[in-house]
Amino acid sequence: MKKIVINGNRKLSGCISISGAKNSVVALIPAAILTDGVVEILNTPELTDTENLRKIITLLGGDIEFGKGFMKINGKNVVSNPIPSELSDKLRASYYFMGALLGRFHHVVINFPGGCKIGKRPIDLHLTAFRKMGATIVREGDKYTLDAEHLHGANILFDFPSVGATINVLMAAVLADGVTVIENAAKEPEIINIVSLLNNMGAKIVGGGTNTIRIEGVEKLNSAVIEVIPDRIEAGTYMMIGALIGENLKITNVIPKHVEILLSKMRDMGVEFKVEDDSVTFLNHDALTAVDIKTLVYPGFPTDLGQPMAVMLTQAKGESHFEETIYESRGGHYPELVKMGADIEFTPSSATIEGPSKLVGTEVAASDLRAGAALIIAGLIAAGTTKISNIEHILRGYEDLVYKLSSVGAEIAIVEE
Ligand code: UD1
Repeated sequence: MKKIVINGNRKLSGCISISGAKNSVVALIPAAILTDGVVEILNTPELTDTENLRKIITLLGGDIEFGKGFMKINGKNVVSNPIPSELSDKLRASYYFMGALLGRFHHVVINFPGGCKIGKRPIDLHLTAFRKMGATIVREGDKYTLDAEHLHGANILFDFPSVGATINVLMAAVLADGVTVIENAAKEPEIINIVSLLNNMGAKIVGGGTNTIRIEGVEKLNSAVIEVIPDRIEAGTYMMIGALIGENLKITNVIPKHVEILLSKMRDMGVEFKVEDDSVTFLNHDALTAVDIKTLVYPGFPTDLGQPMAVMLTQAKGESHFEETIYESRGGHYPELVKMGADIEFTPSSATIEGPSKLVGTEVAASDLRAGAALIIAGLIAAGTTKISNIEHILRGYEDLVYKLSSVGAEIAIVEE
Protein backbone atom coordinates (compact mmCIF):
# COMPACT_ATOMS: atom_id res chain seq x y z
CA MET A 1 0.00 0.00 0.00
CA LYS A 2 1.26 3.47 -0.87
CA LYS A 3 1.61 5.91 2.02
CA ILE A 4 2.73 9.52 2.37
CA VAL A 5 5.41 9.92 5.03
CA ILE A 6 6.17 13.35 6.46
CA ASN A 7 8.86 14.36 8.92
CA GLY A 8 7.25 17.51 10.24
CA ASN A 9 8.04 20.73 12.01
CA ARG A 10 10.25 22.25 9.29
CA LYS A 11 9.97 25.82 8.07
CA LEU A 12 9.16 26.20 4.36
CA SER A 13 10.61 28.86 2.04
CA GLY A 14 10.48 29.48 -1.68
CA CYS A 15 7.75 29.36 -4.24
CA ILE A 16 4.83 27.02 -4.96
CA SER A 17 2.98 27.43 -8.24
CA ILE A 18 -0.70 26.51 -8.29
CA SER A 19 -2.01 24.13 -10.96
CA GLY A 20 -5.15 24.35 -13.07
CA ALA A 21 -8.36 23.80 -11.12
CA LYS A 22 -9.49 20.20 -10.72
CA ASN A 23 -13.14 21.19 -10.48
CA SER A 24 -12.88 23.18 -13.73
CA VAL A 25 -10.94 20.74 -15.84
CA VAL A 26 -13.25 17.87 -14.89
CA ALA A 27 -16.10 19.79 -16.54
CA LEU A 28 -14.10 21.23 -19.45
CA ILE A 29 -13.08 17.74 -20.64
CA PRO A 30 -16.67 16.40 -20.95
CA ALA A 31 -17.77 19.74 -22.50
CA ALA A 32 -15.26 19.17 -25.31
CA ILE A 33 -17.34 16.35 -26.80
CA LEU A 34 -20.22 18.75 -27.51
CA THR A 35 -18.46 19.48 -30.81
CA ASP A 36 -17.15 17.27 -33.61
CA GLY A 37 -14.24 19.71 -33.81
CA VAL A 38 -11.12 19.97 -31.66
CA VAL A 39 -11.03 21.52 -28.19
CA GLU A 40 -7.66 22.47 -26.77
CA ILE A 41 -7.47 22.84 -23.00
CA LEU A 42 -4.42 24.63 -21.57
CA ASN A 43 -3.03 24.62 -18.01
CA THR A 44 -4.45 21.13 -17.40
CA PRO A 45 -3.34 19.49 -14.15
CA GLU A 46 -2.20 15.84 -14.25
CA LEU A 47 -4.48 14.13 -11.73
CA THR A 48 -6.10 10.71 -11.46
CA ASP A 49 -9.45 12.43 -12.12
CA THR A 50 -8.24 13.80 -15.48
CA GLU A 51 -6.78 10.41 -16.36
CA ASN A 52 -10.13 8.72 -15.70
CA LEU A 53 -11.99 11.29 -17.80
CA ARG A 54 -9.55 10.62 -20.65
CA LYS A 55 -10.46 6.94 -20.37
CA ILE A 56 -14.16 7.80 -20.70
CA ILE A 57 -13.50 10.00 -23.77
CA THR A 58 -11.55 7.14 -25.34
CA LEU A 59 -14.38 4.70 -24.58
CA LEU A 60 -16.75 7.09 -26.37
CA GLY A 61 -14.51 7.04 -29.46
CA GLY A 62 -12.86 10.45 -28.99
CA ASP A 63 -9.18 11.07 -29.78
CA ILE A 64 -7.01 12.69 -27.11
CA GLU A 65 -3.55 14.13 -27.37
CA PHE A 66 -2.07 15.31 -24.09
CA GLY A 67 1.16 16.39 -22.47
CA LYS A 68 2.39 18.52 -19.59
CA GLY A 69 -0.23 21.26 -19.20
CA PHE A 70 -2.34 20.63 -22.29
CA MET A 71 -4.96 18.35 -23.72
CA LYS A 72 -6.44 18.30 -27.23
CA ILE A 73 -9.73 16.46 -27.63
CA ASN A 74 -11.06 15.61 -31.07
CA GLY A 75 -14.76 14.81 -30.83
CA LYS A 76 -15.26 13.78 -34.48
CA ASN A 77 -15.71 10.05 -33.86
CA VAL A 78 -17.47 10.30 -30.50
CA VAL A 79 -20.60 8.15 -30.10
CA SER A 80 -22.86 7.77 -27.09
CA ASN A 81 -21.57 4.43 -25.78
CA PRO A 82 -22.81 3.39 -22.32
CA ILE A 83 -20.41 4.50 -19.56
CA PRO A 84 -19.89 1.54 -17.20
CA SER A 85 -19.75 1.79 -13.42
CA GLU A 86 -16.01 0.89 -13.38
CA LEU A 87 -15.39 4.33 -14.91
CA SER A 88 -18.28 6.43 -13.56
CA ASP A 89 -17.47 5.20 -10.02
CA LYS A 90 -14.02 6.71 -10.11
CA LEU A 91 -15.12 10.31 -9.80
CA ARG A 92 -18.06 12.60 -9.21
CA ALA A 93 -17.51 14.55 -12.43
CA SER A 94 -18.32 11.52 -14.61
CA TYR A 95 -21.90 12.80 -14.42
CA TYR A 96 -21.02 15.72 -16.71
CA PHE A 97 -21.24 13.20 -19.54
CA MET A 98 -24.98 13.09 -18.81
CA GLY A 99 -25.45 16.69 -19.92
CA ALA A 100 -22.81 16.55 -22.67
CA LEU A 101 -24.07 13.33 -24.33
CA LEU A 102 -27.70 14.32 -23.89
CA GLY A 103 -26.88 17.67 -25.53
CA ARG A 104 -25.11 16.21 -28.54
CA PHE A 105 -26.79 12.80 -29.05
CA HIS A 106 -30.07 13.10 -27.07
CA HIS A 107 -29.21 9.73 -25.53
CA VAL A 108 -26.97 8.59 -22.67
CA VAL A 109 -26.54 5.49 -20.53
CA ILE A 110 -24.44 6.05 -17.41
CA ASN A 111 -24.10 4.80 -13.84
CA PHE A 112 -24.42 6.87 -10.68
CA PRO A 113 -21.22 8.92 -10.21
CA GLY A 114 -18.52 8.19 -7.63
CA GLY A 115 -16.60 10.82 -5.66
CA CYS A 116 -15.77 11.49 -2.02
CA LYS A 117 -18.14 9.95 0.54
CA ILE A 118 -19.03 13.13 2.41
CA GLY A 119 -22.81 12.97 2.45
CA LYS A 120 -25.74 11.67 0.43
CA ARG A 121 -24.93 13.68 -2.73
CA PRO A 122 -28.11 12.97 -4.71
CA ILE A 123 -28.49 14.04 -8.36
CA ASP A 124 -32.19 14.87 -8.25
CA LEU A 125 -31.65 18.50 -9.29
CA HIS A 126 -29.82 17.38 -12.44
CA LEU A 127 -32.51 14.83 -13.34
CA THR A 128 -35.46 17.17 -12.69
CA ALA A 129 -33.87 19.78 -14.96
CA PHE A 130 -33.22 17.25 -17.75
CA ARG A 131 -36.85 16.11 -17.54
CA LYS A 132 -38.02 19.73 -17.87
CA MET A 133 -35.91 19.92 -21.02
CA GLY A 134 -37.76 16.98 -22.56
CA ALA A 135 -35.71 13.98 -21.39
CA THR A 136 -37.21 10.73 -20.20
CA ILE A 137 -35.15 8.93 -17.59
CA VAL A 138 -35.22 5.22 -16.84
CA ARG A 139 -33.39 4.05 -13.73
CA GLU A 140 -32.41 0.44 -13.15
CA GLY A 141 -30.47 0.24 -9.88
CA ASP A 142 -27.56 2.64 -10.33
CA LYS A 143 -27.90 2.73 -14.12
CA TYR A 144 -29.60 5.72 -15.74
CA THR A 145 -30.81 5.82 -19.35
CA LEU A 146 -31.72 9.29 -20.60
CA ASP A 147 -33.41 9.94 -23.94
CA ALA A 148 -34.79 13.11 -25.43
CA GLU A 149 -36.65 13.02 -28.73
CA HIS A 150 -36.94 16.80 -28.58
CA LEU A 151 -34.40 18.45 -26.25
CA HIS A 152 -35.70 21.93 -25.60
CA GLY A 153 -35.09 25.01 -23.47
CA ALA A 154 -36.83 25.36 -20.10
CA ASN A 155 -37.06 27.63 -17.07
CA ILE A 156 -35.19 25.95 -14.26
CA LEU A 157 -35.24 27.14 -10.66
CA PHE A 158 -32.87 25.17 -8.45
CA ASP A 159 -33.77 24.51 -4.79
CA PHE A 160 -30.05 24.86 -4.09
CA PRO A 161 -27.32 26.51 -6.23
CA SER A 162 -25.63 23.20 -7.07
CA VAL A 163 -22.33 23.48 -8.94
CA GLY A 164 -22.76 20.12 -10.67
CA ALA A 165 -26.40 20.65 -11.66
CA THR A 166 -25.67 24.14 -13.02
CA ILE A 167 -22.85 22.81 -15.21
CA ASN A 168 -24.86 19.77 -16.35
CA VAL A 169 -27.79 21.95 -17.43
CA LEU A 170 -25.40 24.28 -19.29
CA MET A 171 -24.04 21.28 -21.20
CA ALA A 172 -27.51 20.06 -22.20
CA ALA A 173 -28.89 23.53 -22.95
CA VAL A 174 -26.26 24.87 -25.35
CA LEU A 175 -27.49 22.61 -28.19
CA ALA A 176 -31.16 22.40 -27.10
CA ASP A 177 -33.96 23.96 -29.08
CA GLY A 178 -34.82 27.40 -27.64
CA VAL A 179 -33.93 29.29 -24.49
CA THR A 180 -33.06 27.88 -21.06
CA VAL A 181 -32.97 30.11 -17.99
CA ILE A 182 -31.33 28.81 -14.82
CA GLU A 183 -32.38 30.65 -11.66
CA ASN A 184 -30.52 30.22 -8.36
CA ALA A 185 -27.55 29.04 -10.42
CA ALA A 186 -24.20 28.33 -8.77
CA LYS A 187 -21.76 31.28 -8.99
CA GLU A 188 -18.44 29.51 -8.40
CA PRO A 189 -15.48 30.67 -10.55
CA GLU A 190 -15.45 27.20 -12.18
CA ILE A 191 -18.88 27.98 -13.70
CA ILE A 192 -17.41 31.04 -15.44
CA ASN A 193 -14.57 28.90 -16.82
CA ILE A 194 -17.05 26.43 -18.37
CA VAL A 195 -19.24 29.22 -19.73
CA SER A 196 -16.14 30.77 -21.34
CA LEU A 197 -15.28 27.51 -23.10
CA LEU A 198 -18.85 26.96 -24.30
CA ASN A 199 -19.10 30.54 -25.59
CA ASN A 200 -15.69 30.13 -27.29
CA MET A 201 -17.22 27.08 -29.01
CA GLY A 202 -20.10 29.24 -30.29
CA ALA A 203 -22.68 28.88 -27.51
CA LYS A 204 -24.86 31.84 -26.54
CA ILE A 205 -24.71 32.09 -22.76
CA VAL A 206 -25.06 35.22 -20.65
CA GLY A 207 -24.97 35.63 -16.88
CA GLY A 208 -22.29 33.05 -15.98
CA GLY A 209 -21.09 33.89 -12.45
CA THR A 210 -24.46 35.39 -11.44
CA ASN A 211 -27.49 33.57 -10.08
CA THR A 212 -29.39 33.85 -13.38
CA ILE A 213 -27.90 32.25 -16.47
CA ARG A 214 -29.60 32.50 -19.88
CA ILE A 215 -28.69 30.04 -22.61
CA GLU A 216 -29.96 30.34 -26.16
CA GLY A 217 -29.53 27.00 -27.90
CA VAL A 218 -27.51 26.91 -31.14
CA GLU A 219 -27.39 24.35 -33.98
CA LYS A 220 -23.74 23.40 -33.67
CA LEU A 221 -20.60 24.07 -31.62
CA ASN A 222 -17.11 24.41 -33.08
CA SER A 223 -13.42 23.99 -32.23
CA ALA A 224 -12.09 26.25 -29.45
CA VAL A 225 -9.28 26.87 -26.97
CA ILE A 226 -9.61 27.45 -23.20
CA GLU A 227 -7.24 27.87 -20.29
CA VAL A 228 -8.09 26.25 -16.94
CA ILE A 229 -8.30 28.78 -14.09
CA PRO A 230 -5.93 28.30 -11.10
CA ASP A 231 -7.18 25.88 -8.47
CA ARG A 232 -8.50 28.01 -5.60
CA ILE A 233 -8.76 25.00 -3.28
CA GLU A 234 -5.18 23.88 -3.93
CA ALA A 235 -4.14 27.55 -3.48
CA GLY A 236 -6.02 27.78 -0.18
CA THR A 237 -4.42 24.57 1.08
CA TYR A 238 -0.87 25.86 0.40
CA MET A 239 -1.78 29.28 1.77
CA MET A 240 -2.70 27.64 5.08
CA ILE A 241 0.63 25.84 5.06
CA GLY A 242 2.27 29.24 4.43
CA ALA A 243 0.39 30.79 7.33
CA LEU A 244 1.48 28.00 9.68
CA ILE A 245 5.11 27.27 8.72
CA GLY A 246 6.02 29.63 5.87
CA GLU A 247 9.12 31.77 6.04
CA ASN A 248 8.95 33.80 2.88
CA LEU A 249 6.77 31.21 1.17
CA LYS A 250 5.20 32.56 -2.02
CA ILE A 251 2.12 30.93 -3.53
CA THR A 252 1.95 31.94 -7.20
CA ASN A 253 -0.55 31.56 -10.06
CA VAL A 254 -3.36 32.49 -7.68
CA ILE A 255 -6.39 34.69 -8.39
CA PRO A 256 -6.57 36.47 -4.99
CA LYS A 257 -10.24 37.40 -5.57
CA HIS A 258 -11.11 33.66 -5.65
CA VAL A 259 -9.67 33.14 -2.15
CA GLU A 260 -10.88 36.42 -0.65
CA ILE A 261 -12.90 34.81 2.15
CA LEU A 262 -9.91 32.71 3.26
CA LEU A 263 -7.64 35.79 3.22
CA SER A 264 -10.23 37.67 5.25
CA LYS A 265 -10.41 34.86 7.87
CA MET A 266 -6.61 34.72 7.95
CA ARG A 267 -6.49 38.46 8.67
CA ASP A 268 -8.97 37.94 11.51
CA MET A 269 -6.68 35.22 12.89
CA GLY A 270 -3.67 37.55 12.81
CA VAL A 271 -1.81 36.02 9.85
CA GLU A 272 0.49 38.42 8.01
CA PHE A 273 0.80 38.09 4.26
CA LYS A 274 1.42 40.16 1.14
CA VAL A 275 -1.04 40.00 -1.76
CA GLU A 276 0.16 40.81 -5.27
CA ASP A 277 -1.58 40.47 -8.67
CA ASP A 278 -1.27 36.70 -8.89
CA SER A 279 0.47 35.65 -5.69
CA VAL A 280 0.23 35.65 -1.90
CA THR A 281 3.43 35.56 0.19
CA PHE A 282 3.67 34.45 3.81
CA LEU A 283 6.69 36.10 5.42
CA ASN A 284 6.54 34.79 8.93
CA HIS A 285 4.13 32.92 11.10
CA ASP A 286 2.73 34.65 14.14
CA ALA A 287 0.51 33.54 16.98
CA LEU A 288 -3.00 32.90 15.68
CA THR A 289 -6.31 33.71 17.32
CA ALA A 290 -9.47 31.60 17.18
CA VAL A 291 -12.23 32.39 14.65
CA ASP A 292 -15.60 30.90 13.76
CA ILE A 293 -16.11 29.36 10.30
CA LYS A 294 -19.31 28.39 8.52
CA THR A 295 -19.07 26.88 5.03
CA LEU A 296 -21.29 28.38 2.35
CA VAL A 297 -21.58 28.54 -1.44
CA TYR A 298 -19.28 30.98 -3.26
CA PRO A 299 -18.28 33.65 -2.30
CA GLY A 300 -18.72 32.18 1.19
CA PHE A 301 -16.15 29.95 2.88
CA PRO A 302 -15.71 26.90 0.57
CA THR A 303 -16.65 23.53 2.01
CA ASP A 304 -13.58 22.08 0.27
CA LEU A 305 -11.33 24.23 2.48
CA GLY A 306 -13.23 23.44 5.66
CA GLN A 307 -11.24 20.32 6.49
CA PRO A 308 -7.80 21.92 5.94
CA MET A 309 -9.02 24.94 7.94
CA ALA A 310 -9.74 22.71 10.94
CA VAL A 311 -5.99 22.09 11.20
CA MET A 312 -5.28 25.84 11.25
CA LEU A 313 -7.84 26.24 14.01
CA THR A 314 -5.99 23.68 16.17
CA GLN A 315 -3.09 26.16 16.17
CA ALA A 316 -5.16 29.24 17.09
CA LYS A 317 -5.40 30.47 20.66
CA GLY A 318 -8.90 30.06 22.08
CA GLU A 319 -12.07 28.24 21.09
CA SER A 320 -13.08 28.15 17.40
CA HIS A 321 -16.44 26.95 16.15
CA PHE A 322 -16.74 25.26 12.80
CA GLU A 323 -19.98 24.51 10.95
CA GLU A 324 -20.32 22.56 7.70
CA THR A 325 -23.55 23.48 5.89
CA ILE A 326 -23.14 21.92 2.42
CA TYR A 327 -22.57 18.23 3.24
CA GLU A 328 -24.02 16.09 6.06
CA SER A 329 -20.90 14.14 6.99
CA ARG A 330 -17.65 15.82 6.15
CA GLY A 331 -15.86 14.99 9.39
CA GLY A 332 -13.53 12.07 8.54
CA HIS A 333 -10.48 14.15 9.46
CA TYR A 334 -11.52 14.88 13.06
CA PRO A 335 -10.70 11.50 14.69
CA GLU A 336 -7.35 11.48 12.90
CA LEU A 337 -6.47 14.98 14.11
CA VAL A 338 -7.47 14.01 17.65
CA LYS A 339 -5.07 11.04 17.38
CA MET A 340 -2.35 13.57 16.59
CA GLY A 341 -3.12 15.56 19.73
CA ALA A 342 -5.77 18.08 18.63
CA ASP A 343 -8.44 19.14 21.11
CA ILE A 344 -11.63 18.80 19.06
CA GLU A 345 -15.20 17.97 20.00
CA PHE A 346 -17.15 17.13 16.88
CA THR A 347 -20.33 15.93 15.25
CA PRO A 348 -20.33 14.92 11.53
CA SER A 349 -21.05 18.53 10.54
CA SER A 350 -19.67 20.74 13.30
CA ALA A 351 -16.74 21.08 15.65
CA THR A 352 -15.46 23.05 18.59
CA ILE A 353 -11.70 23.33 18.41
CA GLU A 354 -9.59 24.48 21.34
CA GLY A 355 -6.08 25.67 20.60
CA PRO A 356 -3.23 25.88 20.34
CA SER A 357 -2.40 22.15 20.49
CA LYS A 358 0.94 20.55 19.92
CA LEU A 359 0.43 17.97 17.17
CA VAL A 360 2.54 14.82 17.15
CA GLY A 361 3.05 12.55 14.13
CA THR A 362 1.42 9.11 14.04
CA GLU A 363 -0.32 6.71 11.60
CA VAL A 364 -3.48 8.26 10.13
CA ALA A 365 -5.81 7.53 7.21
CA ALA A 366 -7.37 9.88 4.64
CA SER A 367 -11.14 9.27 4.48
CA ASP A 368 -11.57 11.53 1.44
CA LEU A 369 -9.68 14.07 -0.67
CA ARG A 370 -9.84 17.17 1.55
CA ALA A 371 -9.57 15.15 4.77
CA GLY A 372 -6.29 13.99 3.19
CA ALA A 373 -5.26 17.60 2.57
CA ALA A 374 -5.94 18.33 6.23
CA LEU A 375 -3.69 15.45 7.27
CA ILE A 376 -0.91 16.68 4.98
CA ILE A 377 -1.01 20.07 6.73
CA ALA A 378 -1.17 18.39 10.14
CA GLY A 379 1.83 16.20 9.26
CA LEU A 380 3.85 19.20 8.11
CA ILE A 381 3.35 21.08 11.39
CA ALA A 382 3.53 18.04 13.72
CA ALA A 383 6.58 16.94 15.66
CA GLY A 384 7.98 13.62 14.45
CA THR A 385 6.79 11.36 11.65
CA THR A 386 3.27 11.17 10.22
CA LYS A 387 2.27 8.29 7.95
CA ILE A 388 -0.86 8.80 5.89
CA SER A 389 -2.65 5.88 4.22
CA ASN A 390 -5.49 5.87 1.62
CA ILE A 391 -3.50 8.45 -0.34
CA GLU A 392 -5.31 7.69 -3.60
CA HIS A 393 -7.92 10.21 -2.38
CA ILE A 394 -5.26 12.93 -2.09
CA LEU A 395 -3.70 12.21 -5.48
CA ARG A 396 -7.11 12.82 -7.10
CA GLY A 397 -6.82 16.51 -6.34
CA TYR A 398 -3.25 17.73 -5.77
CA GLU A 399 -0.90 17.74 -8.76
CA ASP A 400 2.78 17.07 -7.95
CA LEU A 401 2.06 17.39 -4.22
CA VAL A 402 5.27 15.74 -3.04
CA TYR A 403 7.43 17.63 -5.53
CA LYS A 404 5.85 21.00 -4.72
CA LEU A 405 6.30 20.58 -0.95
CA SER A 406 9.80 19.07 -1.18
CA SER A 407 10.96 21.96 -3.36
CA VAL A 408 10.22 24.43 -0.53
CA GLY A 409 11.96 22.37 2.17
CA ALA A 410 9.41 19.80 3.39
CA GLU A 411 10.54 16.28 4.19
CA ILE A 412 7.80 14.32 2.45
CA ALA A 413 7.76 11.18 0.32
CA ILE A 414 5.47 8.51 -1.07
CA VAL A 415 6.57 5.07 0.10
CA GLU A 416 5.34 1.56 -0.59
CA GLU A 417 4.63 -0.44 2.60
C1 UD1 B 1 -18.79 20.44 -6.47
C2 UD1 B 1 -17.32 20.14 -6.30
C3 UD1 B 1 -17.00 19.82 -4.85
C4 UD1 B 1 -17.52 20.91 -3.93
C5 UD1 B 1 -18.98 21.23 -4.22
C6 UD1 B 1 -19.52 22.40 -3.44
C7 UD1 B 1 -16.75 19.20 -8.44
C8 UD1 B 1 -16.33 17.99 -9.22
N1 UD1 B 1 -16.98 19.01 -7.13
O1 UD1 B 1 -19.46 19.23 -6.12
O2 UD1 B 1 -15.60 19.70 -4.73
O3 UD1 B 1 -17.43 20.45 -2.61
O4 UD1 B 1 -19.17 21.51 -5.62
O5 UD1 B 1 -18.73 23.53 -3.68
O6 UD1 B 1 -16.82 20.28 -8.97
N2 UD1 B 1 -27.37 18.42 -4.11
C9 UD1 B 1 -28.63 17.85 -4.10
N3 UD1 B 1 -29.15 17.42 -5.29
C10 UD1 B 1 -28.47 17.53 -6.47
C11 UD1 B 1 -27.18 18.12 -6.46
C12 UD1 B 1 -26.65 18.56 -5.26
O7 UD1 B 1 -29.27 17.75 -3.05
O8 UD1 B 1 -29.01 17.11 -7.50
C13 UD1 B 1 -26.77 18.86 -2.82
C14 UD1 B 1 -25.54 18.04 -2.45
O9 UD1 B 1 -25.88 16.82 -1.81
C15 UD1 B 1 -24.81 18.98 -1.54
C16 UD1 B 1 -25.11 20.36 -2.17
O10 UD1 B 1 -26.27 20.18 -2.97
O11 UD1 B 1 -25.34 18.93 -0.25
C17 UD1 B 1 -23.97 20.91 -3.01
O12 UD1 B 1 -23.71 20.05 -4.06
P1 UD1 B 1 -23.08 20.54 -5.44
O13 UD1 B 1 -22.89 22.01 -5.47
O14 UD1 B 1 -23.88 19.91 -6.52
O15 UD1 B 1 -21.68 19.85 -5.39
P2 UD1 B 1 -20.97 19.02 -6.50
O16 UD1 B 1 -21.22 19.65 -7.83
O17 UD1 B 1 -21.27 17.57 -6.31
